[in-house]
Amino acid sequence: MKIAVAGGTGAVGRLVVEVAQSRGHATVVLARSAGLDLVVGHELATVLDGVDAVVDVTSTSTQSGKASEAFFGGVTRNLLGAERAAGVGHHLALSIVGSDRAPFGYYAGKALQEQLVSSGPVPWTILRATQFHEFAQRMFAQFTVGPLSLVPTMRSQPVAAREVAERLVALAEGAPAGRPADLAGPEVLQMADMVRAYATAVGRKPRILQLPLPGGFGKAMRDGTILAGPDADHGTQTFHEWVAEVARASA
Ligand SMILES: NC(=O)c1ccc[n+]([C@@H]2O[C@H](COP(=O)([O-])OP(=O)(O)OC[C@H]3O[C@@H](n4cnc5c(N)ncnc54)[C@H](OP(=O)(O)O)[C@@H]3O)[C@@H](O)[C@H]2O)c1
Repeated sequence: MKIAVAGGTGAVGRLVVEVAQSRGHATVVLARSAGLDLVVGHELATVLDGVDAVVDVTSTSTQSGKASEAFFGGVTRNLLGAERAAGVGHHLALSIVGSDRAPFGYYAGKALQEQLVSSGPVPWTILRATQFHEFAQRMFAQFTVGPLSLVPTMRSQPVAAREVAERLVALAEGAPAGRPADLAGPEVLQMADMVRAYATAVGRKPRILQLPLPGGFGKAMRDGTILAGPDADHGTQTFHEWVAEVARASA
């Protein structure tokens, strides 16, 4: 098969490319660093010539609902239009568990993306996953000031990005599946404990300050709204196994 990976240079995207190639598929990466801005979207249909499936794992760092809707709305509309023109038979989007129940901030864009894909012109699959293990690494990098790390009060069910990539490639190899079971990690943890474990693994000892975020999204982070339900599939690598890998790599 020929699989285009939108966001194929990102945390999960590069693993999707790796897994797809290891399974004998040809891949095309769509990303700004590969010369394609998907919010602008020009010349896309030509790039998608001969592509069987598009896996969309693009992302933006914004936490603003409006900006997130502009990003995911723009990328999704451009991809779907170009896929229809090029005759691509399968669009797969990676979404987030809870985007329907807590469509605030960044998740507002994911909710719009799901709506556009599921009502769009290309046969589709939307996989919802929980946070990747790397989420704790991002929190630590973004919200550490001197010896202090700020972490939202949040329950998370982290999953290995590689297992998400493997699931996406398996789904791309099959027929459009609509909404298959969500994919979550094997255990529920507090984000503060995850950030502390990650920091320790890279030789840091920050003081962790846990903050309850205000508003609907803050509540959803605390009360389990963004955790997977009973019908979800579960990855096998635990967060602490991932942290042990990080510790070995940084030793
Ligand atoms: N991270 C998580 O914990 C998590 C959990 C569940 C679901 N998800 C979903 O998984 C997807 C991928 O997340 P991630 O954390 O792997 O993302 P990421 O590491 O931030 O990567 C984002 C990718 O999008 C590309 N991109 C950004 N703006 C673009 C533009 N205008 N045009 C073309 N490409 C663009 C980036 O490449 P360039 O910078 O080169 O353009 C990069 O390849 C997202 O949709 C996210 O909602 C993430």
